Amino acid sequence: MPTAPEAVLDLQLTNRTTGADGVVVLEFRDPSGADLPAWTPGAHIDLVLTSELTRQYSLCGDPADTGTWRVAVLREALGRGGSQFVHDKLSEGDHVTVRGPRNHFELEPSPRYVFIAGGIGITPILTMARAAENAGADWTLVYGGRSRSSMAFADTLVAHFGDKVVVHPQDERGLIDLPGLLGEVRDNTLVYCCGPAPLLDAVTGHCDGWPSGALHIERFAAKDLEEPVRAEGFEVELALSGKTVAVAPEQSILQAVTAAGVQVLSSCEEGTCGTCETAVLGGTVDHRDSLLTADEQAANDTMMICVSRATCPRLTLEM
Ligand code: FES
Repeated sequence: MPTAPEAVLDLQLTNRTTGADGVVVLEFRDPSGADLPAWTPGAHIDLVLTSELTRQYSLCGDPADTGTWRVAVLREALGRGGSQFVHDKLSEGDHVTVRGPRNHFELEPSPRYVFIAGGIGITPILTMARAAENAGADWTLVYGGRSRSSMAFADTLVAHFGDKVVVHPQDERGLIDLPGLLGEVRDNTLVYCCGPAPLLDAVTGHCDGWPSGALHIERFAAKDLEEPVRAEGFEVELALSGKTVAVAPEQSILQAVTAAGVQVLSSCEEGTCGTCETAVLGGTVDHRDSLLTADEQAANDTMMICVSRATCPRLTLEM
């Protein structure tokens, strides 16, 4: 998985509109008019809202528009405060520290795609649909949501792409027919899905018989964590700084190395954003993130140190 260099930028919120019930669409620009770093479909950025509140949002504008970054934010009443801050406190003209872009949900080349989006999970998927169209691929997008009025970008997508886009409001049409969509394994077809955990879990279940690597999902919320493989503590050797740090059972590696005075970038601290991704040079990892694919986890060459741990007494990391 590539780790793109990321920028830390002071951007201005230049446009704020309503995208759907409970969804605001925000556009950011550099106040000097400078171009923003390039990004690819599936990328996200961090909005650093306060010193304690950093949240990740998928870019959902046009990668060819180098002057603007656009995100859409759903107000989550039961969330941890990020979306409420965005909805209640951010106004046009405000300056916001923005980090990124970062992409752990890259669109791989393929002649055919099935895109599935649930609710605000449409944000990375809509940029992928545009990219698939531009590449001349054969694609379909099924977009589910509670009701039509809650589904941002639905009308625009249908206006642009016609019957390649199936809008599936639950109150009109019930749940997406996943057996009909995924029941038959199709060659040379990649499936990309983003949305709430029950949809991701259902899609994962229906892709059981698909070739390894065909399904790509992105989670906004962390998976439920099981008990660590190793109950005891372990040591982490930091190859670049020459330190060795003890990680106690109740501590994360991120906490232990930070306490030892090693500066590490982090954001979500729950294994969903990829900010703390660190190369593994030795030892075996108990992967507990919600980001790496099964193949990437099995490769054992990178880990999210905010949640993942060691299965062995000692790990060596590139830090
Ligand atoms: S800080 Fe987000 S994955 Fe570790």
